This record gives sequence, structure tokens and C-alpha cells, in this order.
Amino acid sequence: METHLIAPHGGALVNLLATPERAAELKAQSRDWPSWDLTGRQLCDLELLSCGGFSPLTGFLGKADYAGVCESMRLADGTLWPMPIMLDVPEELGKDLAAGGKLALRDAEGVMLAVLNVKDVWQPDLTAEAEKVFGSTNVEHPGVGQLLQNTHPYYVGGTVEALEMPRHYDYRDIRQTPAQVRQHFASMGWRRVVAFQTRNPMHRAHQELTFRAARELEASLLIHPVVGVTKPGDVDHFTRVRCYQAIEGHYPRGTATLSLLPLAMRMGGPREAVWHAIIRKNYGCTHFIVGRDHAGPGSDSAGNPFYGPYDAQEMLTEYQDELGIQMVPFKMMVYLPDTDKYVPIDEVPDGMKSKSLSGTELRDRLSDGREIPAWFSFPDVVTELRRSYPPRSSQGFTVFFSGLPSSGKSTLANVLMSKLMEIGGRPITLLDGDLVRKNLSSELGFSKEHRDLNIRRIGWVASEITKNGGIAICAPIAPYKAIRADVREMIASVGGYILVHVSTPVATCEQRDRKGLYAKARAGIIKEFTGISDPYEVPEDADMAFDTTDLAPEECVQSILLHLEKEGFIGTA
Ligand code: PPS
Repeated sequence: METHLIAPHGGALVNLLATPERAAELKAQSRDWPSWDLTGRQLCDLELLSCGGFSPLTGFLGKADYAGVCESMRLADGTLWPMPIMLDVPEELGKDLAAGGKLALRDAEGVMLAVLNVKDVWQPDLTAEAEKVFGSTNVEHPGVGQLLQNTHPYYVGGTVEALEMPRHYDYRDIRQTPAQVRQHFASMGWRRVVAFQTRNPMHRAHQELTFRAARELEASLLIHPVVGVTKPGDVDHFTRVRCYQAIEGHYPRGTATLSLLPLAMRMGGPREAVWHAIIRKNYGCTHFIVGRDHAGPGSDSAGNPFYGPYDAQEMLTEYQDELGIQMVPFKMMVYLPDTDKYVPIDEVPDGMKSKSLSGTELRDRLSDGREIPAWFSFPDVVTELRRSYPPRSSQGFTVFFSGLPSSGKSTLANVLMSKLMEIGGRPITLLDGDLVRKNLSSELGFSKEHRDLNIRRIGWVASEITKNGGIAICAPIAPYKAIRADVREMIASVGGYILVHVSTPVATCEQRDRKGLYAKARAGIIKEFTGISDPYEVPEDADMAFDTTDLAPEECVQSILLHLEKEGFIGTA
């Protein structure tokens, strides 16, 4: 049935899955083998090795293949392969491994997924690899950053025997192996198939581009999004898959299919485009769409792009004949309001107006709850994005008060809580310093280590509340900068975060001494007392600061409410 489909890279589809008998044998033998719990990235690589998505590879690269791939994009036998597929392990493990040994590869729960028949173990020059593979050693490039900051110092190469595939519980019906996708093509009578790779939600421009490609080639379409590891900050794959499922209905029936690819991207631009094409060939596709800035890592902090917008197309042009999968190059698509059509940017008729919407503009519109125009996206796709990215007025947020004991934090926190409850609409949790010490951190004291742990716990709870659309009001002393910065990072990635410094000077706080603790601290009865015998690092990143010496709590809280309104967190939904 499969004979009419394009041959996989290297001629045959690799399948590393052992027979049940062999799997049982390996499991029984594995008791004394060293083990390695695979990282998220390595799990993705193992899955694509096991199922043949990386055909003709039969394991993690050994030394000779690695050298060839880095140097000239070729395995030691001359086969084109642009991306190193490496198993990196820590020194403690690496130095105990040797050729001829076995290494059990496990998932995060400790399930043995595969065994590596160790052939080579060595310490690679990662900087040289970054330079050769990514053309850069700048860690702002996500692939380089991963390689230079997050890669263990030993590489272990060798063939893999898989006992089982990594487990997934999401979207199982559309997670297919190359053999299953090929089978699907064969059963549908699809011989010419054009693949579309994406790590973003698809909008009208993408639908128009893919439809146009398929129509011009008289080919069927495989929508083949990456659901493994993509660029940090991307839309999560659950949301994206709902968007893809929505867009599937916008193609003529029987001409397009959706399947998910568990790939860990490297954002390697040109080399990555060649790699993506090889993978799609393994899945049975004859054509592969490469648009502007394919698998691009973006720009460095000085604004210089790591690759030119069409470098990937140029590189794949060089290799497509050798590979046998044809590239379908596309320029950026823009919308022509006068004709209600999308066209590649280089086909806009002279003098005609064109429109496009950047990713940043889309995010801003989602965040402000503004309209997303129908020319830009389909309403069912927009509905999915809005469900995952509600406007700020329905997102969760944290107001974090920090200041000396008796500075007025608890009073402000309580007044703010009452006012926000009057407004209503979101659940509110107050994490006051004393309350937390009673309920969450009762075993902790006031050493730096314990204070940091206390603040980390508060930050974690607040981030969970914020992530789930609630309001957390925190009012600990939180005297240390570094841990406050960690908390900000943790919360700001899931919703709003406002740091309020209650800057009442120590003299006023001591005069107030509501709990009599300053007196005890002065008398040496309480040790490590903030402001007296322990430091308070004044925040330089506070969004607001209030000295409550002469300010009524209501005045301070009103300013906070107006700030929240200005930032969009309170207002009409
Ligand atoms: S920290 O540093 O953020 O973990 O402190 P926090 O949990 O907010 O402190 C809660 C209250 O503990 C009382 N207390 C002390 N504060 C500072 N230093 C020492 N050594 C100390 N011992 C007890 C203090 O009253 C804190 O409450 P507030 O509301 O700040 O007055």
C-alpha cells in the first residue's frame, strides 16, 4: 500500500521499538545498569528516534557522526543530517560509562523507555558546536543558550533499543508515528503531500498560504505543528492545538489533515529548515513549506537578527534535490483590504494598500480585550485564544507589600482587600506576614535562609492564585532583594504583579511599635529584628511606594486602585 509514497531519508523507515520478548529480556537485564532520567528535550529526541521520525538515525550520535554533522552537515557515511542529536549527561555519570556498556534511559517517573548501547563517551567542545551549528555563541539565541548554559558536559553516543514510547495523555488521536501518518496518506490515496510546520497559532494568512500551496501543487496538506519544545514564550500547545482543530474546518473536506510532532526545536534557522524537511520526508511528505524566517531565533539584544529572513530557504534550495523533498518557498503573506485577499508581499500590486498584524499587536489586543479583525483570524480561532488569554480585566494579579515591621503593610493590605471585594469579580486571598507564619511557615525562624524560604512559599502560593485568575495580596516584610526578584518573575509570567514598598521610616515604625517588638529588639530579647539588628534592602523596582507617617491608609489604597485601573487589571470586563 505504501509503495507509491516518497521513500524515507536513507531509504527505510527506522523503528527502534523492541519486540515484547526482547523488551522483557532488556528489562530483566537492566537491574545493574546505570540509569539516566531524560530531560524534556532528550525525551522528544528519543521519541522521534524510536518511531523513525529521525530516520536513518538509530540512536544518539557517536563521535564520528557528531564531528561530521557539526562540520559539514553529514553523518560519517556521507548522509545529509544537519542537527546534532546528542545525549548529554553529567560528569558523575559520564565518567563511569564506557564503550560496550549499557545505559537505561528513563522518563521523569523512572519508567525505563529505552536502552543505549554505549559506543562513545566524550567531553564535547560546546562552544565550537554552537559556532558551527548555529553560527553564533551568543546565548540570547535560544538554541545556543540551551547548548552553552543547559547542557551536561559529557556526550554518550550509541544505538538505542526502545522498550516503549514516551507516554502522552493529551490529544492521543492526533499523535501519530511516521508509519501511521504514511498509512493514513496511503488509505486516503494521497501521494503528493505538502507539509506545513508551525509553532504558532494559525490565522488567516497561514490558512491562505497553505491552501494556496496545496492548490498550486495539486497536493494534499499535512498540518504538522510542533508540540515538543518550542521557543520560550510561545503559546502553549494545548491552546494551539485547539486553534489548529478549529482551522481544520476551513479547508475543503478531505484535503487537509492535522497531526502533532513531538519535536524539540533548536531554533536553528537554516540548518533547522533542512532538518524539518528531512523529518517531513520521513512522514511521507513530498513537499515542505518554508516561509519567512523559518525556525528563526529572533534578534539579539542589540536588535540584530541571527539569520536573514530568507537564509533558511536559501540553504534548503541547495539540498532539496539530494533530499528529494521539494521546498515550497513563501514570502510573507499580507492582506489586501480592497480585494479581501491575501497575497505574498512581493505580489502586492503597485499602489495597493496592504495590511498585516504583528504578534505583539495581537497579544496587546488580546490583553486589552480589543477586537481582533476578521480579516486577520477566524472567529473560532480567536475564541480559543481569548479563552487562554483573557483580557487583563479578568486575569489574576498579585499586590505584594514589602516594608519594615509596623510600617503599615497589614493595614494597607486589609483596606485594599475590602475595596477589591466591593468591586468583586475575582476570589481574593490575603497572605499577611503573621497569618502566613501561623499557617504556612510555622516551623520557620528569622534567619536569612528561613525568611527566603518563607517568601518563596508566599510567592508560590500567590503565583498559583494569580495563574487561576484570583487576586493575592501579600504583606510580609520580605527584606531581601534577590528573593523578591524571584517572586516577581514567578508571578509576572502568569498574570499581574505589583510591588508596593511601604517605606515608612524605622523611627516612625519604632514609635508605633504596635506589637512591642521594637522594644524587645532594642533590649536584645528578640534577635535578628528587621530594621534594628537585621537588614532591610530597599526595593529599587517598586511600582509604588508609600510612607504612611502622614498618609491615611485610604489615600494609599486609592492610589493603588487607580494604578490597577491604569494597568487594565480593574475595569469593565
Ligand atoms: S519575613 O522576613 O518577610 O519572613 O518576615 P515576616 O514573615 O513578614 O514577619 C512576620 C512578623 O513576625 C514578627 N517578627 C519579626 N519580624 C522581623 N524580624 C524578627 N526577628 C521578627 N520576629 C518576629 C513581626 O512582627 C512581623 O510582622 P509585621 O507585620 O511585619 O510587624
